[in-house]
Amino acid sequence: MKGVILAGGAGAPLHPVTLAVPRQLLPVGDKPMIYYPLSVLMLAGVRDILVITTPADAPRFRHLLGDGARLGIHLRYAEQPEPRGIAHALVLGARHIATDPVALILGDTVLHGHTLHALLREHTRDLTGCVLFGHPVSDPQRYGIAETDARGRLVAIHEKPARPPGNRAITGLYLYDNQVVEIARELRPSDRGELEITDVNNVYVGRGEATLVDLGRGFAWLDTGSPDTLLQASQYIQTLQQRQGVRVACLEEVALRMGFIDADACHALGREMATSAYGQYVMATAREFGAA
Ligand code: DAU
Repeated sequence: MKGVILAGGAGAPLHPVTLAVPRQLLPVGDKPMIYYPLSVLMLAGVRDILVITTPADAPRFRHLLGDGARLGIHLRYAEQPEPRGIAHALVLGARHIATDPVALILGDTVLHGHTLHALLREHTRDLTGCVLFGHPVSDPQRYGIAETDARGRLVAIHEKPARPPGNRAITGLYLYDNQVVEIARELRPSDRGELEITDVNNVYVGRGEATLVDLGRGFAWLDTGSPDTLLQASQYIQTLQQRQGVRVACLEEVALRMGFIDADACHALGREMATSAYGQYVMATAREFGAA
């Protein structure tokens, strides 16, 4: 399975901060936002990943993440000159996806849950159709919202509905079989001139090939779209990390636990950041796994 992270857009609701720093590199807790979606893909076992950014921001992402080899993964980059819709990522990524299934994740997706690894493994294995992840929200007018029948099957997804048919939002993590490349290519832009991911998902719903997985209370899906919610997300992550003494979305740790790198390589990555608490944590984790 291939991975695509969409990390473009203007970040207007966070101006003036995002005039200087791309939204997906802003800190959430002690690490850049993009660490969270990248860790989700890595937990799903996805190692070949395309990162899509604006042309202006591309050098910063490359500087931070490089080619991924240090984490035992392979990162490539593509540019989206202007926001032409989330589904546009699938058109830009068509060559990268080739004949494989794909996990698409938005670069601002901060998703956390103890059973995430198992859930992702289960739903990426023998994937047919698409798998979407639903999470309850208190402001359904702001999201793609799932409409289900009495038996809980998906009937349709409504993008930012004025009258929401429920409160289950479709999160920014989408798993697709290879049909998605063709579906995205044939899509027509919406009234706002974008290729809408909800239109892609509704094609799968219409074919009876869409699965909705409920992320219940055991998961946190955090909003980072405004100064207030960004701060709240940071506080949530810091509270959790300090209380439990473990880190969320520590890429070096995920790479180690997934077997992408060994303990010595992990320790060396931590040593490069040894003056930070994050680096100390990476080194301590590596020692638990037997690093010298
Ligand atoms: O967060 C989940 C929601 O994401 C879904 O429930 C909605 O169905 C889906 O349409 C989307 O809604 P948003 O209003 O959050 O999408 P937004 O335009 O804010 O874009 C989400 C992220 O994707 C943001 O970090 C910017 C990036 N993006 C977006 C577009 C449209 C791009 O990089 N390029 C784009 O062309």
